[in-house]
Amino acid sequence: MLERSHLADNALQALHDEDYDVPFNTQTLNHDGLVFMGGRAVTSLDGDWTFCVDLLDTGLRQKWFAMLPEAPEDRAEPWDYDPYMGETVPVPSNWAMLKEKWYFFEGSAWYTRPLDVDTVDPDKRQFLRFGAASYDCKVFLNGEFLGNHYGASTPFCVDLTGKLKPGRNWIMACVNNTRTRDRVPMRNTDWFNYGGLYREVCFFETPKSLIRDFFIHLVPDGTYGTLRAQVTVDGPVAGAARLEIPDLGINVEMAVDGASKAQADIPVRPDLWSPEAPVLYDVTVSCGEDRVTDRVGFRQIERRGTDILLNGEPLFLRGISVHEDDAALGKVTNDADLRRRFEHARDLGCNYLRLAHYPHHEQAARIADELGFLLWEEIPVYWAIDFDNPATYRDADNQLAELIKRDRNRASVIIWSVGNENPDTDARLEFMKGLAQTCKTLDPTRLTSAACLVNHARNRIEDRLAAHIDVIGLNEYYGWYEENFEDLAAIGENSDPDRPVVISETGADGVIGEKGPARGLFSEDYMAEVYRKQIATLRRLSYIKGMSPWILYDFRVERRQNIFQNGYNHKGLIAADKTTKKKAFHILAGFYHEIAAGGETAREAS
Ligand code: GCU
Repeated sequence: MLERSHLADNALQALHDEDYDVPFNTQTLNHDGLVFMGGRAVTSLDGDWTFCVDLLDTGLRQKWFAMLPEAPEDRAEPWDYDPYMGETVPVPSNWAMLKEKWYFFEGSAWYTRPLDVDTVDPDKRQFLRFGAASYDCKVFLNGEFLGNHYGASTPFCVDLTGKLKPGRNWIMACVNNTRTRDRVPMRNTDWFNYGGLYREVCFFETPKSLIRDFFIHLVPDGTYGTLRAQVTVDGPVAGAARLEIPDLGINVEMAVDGASKAQADIPVRPDLWSPEAPVLYDVTVSCGEDRVTDRVGFRQIERRGTDILLNGEPLFLRGISVHEDDAALGKVTNDADLRRRFEHARDLGCNYLRLAHYPHHEQAARIADELGFLLWEEIPVYWAIDFDNPATYRDADNQLAELIKRDRNRASVIIWSVGNENPDTDARLEFMKGLAQTCKTLDPTRLTSAACLVNHARNRIEDRLAAHIDVIGLNEYYGWYEENFEDLAAIGENSDPDRPVVISETGADGVIGEKGPARGLFSEDYMAEVYRKQIATLRRLSYIKGMSPWILYDFRVERRQNIFQNGYNHKGLIAADKTTKKKAFHILAGFYHEIAAGGETAREAS
């Protein structure tokens, strides 16, 4: 805390210093600081936090974070906002969904709450974990700036060790969702720019030496007979790490090397995970006094030529794209919302979902592991990005590393996507090649992809990035944005990709009920016809090994304001009520259920 007189000293400075924010943009809260969470006891910090929007960053300028929690009558100076009392909001939440006056708010907002601890154990380490904060989150403890995190959809930890005091501590987070040229995504997206602390926040302790990271997978050598476990420890350890998987009779020591890493290849033949048989094993890793757990499925995903194979068997990805968006909750999701999503996907005949265009809540992959769905997960390198900017690359690469470290024990995740509909420029190629390499470095067991565009100049499925990813995602909207539907078949015949193609997006808007037109664009019938024609064409292209049409539910977006859209994208197969199915839902479901029953041959039937 600064002394009482800090405001007077700072008052003029606060008005004249336009570099006020520079000291708070260290971006030191990143993937290096993540702590493996499986099985850890945590104290939830969800619930009411004191809240205030701060459009002009007065809080950073005047250093609200350094103010003492004094009673108003004891103050010697006027305060423009009281971090310790007044209006509160529930965490997790998006402020846009809480009050009409905050719907389009874009800027900084302050969250403050106490953290009371009886004692601070000197033999332990203390952390905060934020499930996500959109977009820039500056964290303060008892008036001290501890760092900030960039990225709207990935978790980050804050090390409080040595800073927490017994009794009452004050946590403050300044969350800023301003769209800027150097961020990822940039300034223009086709989804709503929700701001806020919109996933869970918790406090937890670990032993002095802790397990930072744990990755376990089947060695993808086609034998399905070796598990590889990799543990990263932080802090001095005497002795080895231990891996236990009781249902596989595994209880092995893993020597920790000089780089605080332990790796073991264990010969064993687990029952393989698949959508039809989502077998999960309880895994425990201990090292010194630390102990973490996970529930993990073991399977192999690979590509051979234009085939995608799961456990050696070619498969067709019967998918649907999904956003994190809810009419009432905004970008906040919960178990019920997620399970409804998977139930609708099951109704549709899906074995696969594209979690667009950013990392979804970590529960999504956990539930997909449990229920048996395959997932495409993605970072929001979306449309125009400042591909020439090293800071932008560092931001994208960090978001990707945070996603991979969070979800790489999830059998359901088979594809890491490094972007969506980016222009095919040299700068973009270098940027995305780097991200694709990060995927392979952090996780050699999964496929990489990106949602690319048709090369209209050459009327082919062709993108220079394709040579650097395993699966070509293709967004094509013949029948909607591209009016000559016949071109789709022509492009299909004219292309000969050497790797699998997945139609990562296709679809059309369909407004149901009295709001929608009876015929033509934006009518439900027009949308249904687009689906009929798309399916009839795509099913005949043998190198297409999956589809995730756009999109399961109608979703909120600022940039769509015509009389039918009214701030929503209506390409959902189900309306924003997440209940009312449109005609196109049943058309796609018919196709998926037919090929699920009849297999690959049924798909290519005319
Ligand atoms: C694009 C984009 C989506 C967008 C969709 C649409 O392909 O990837 O984010 O919502 O088209 O225009 O509806």
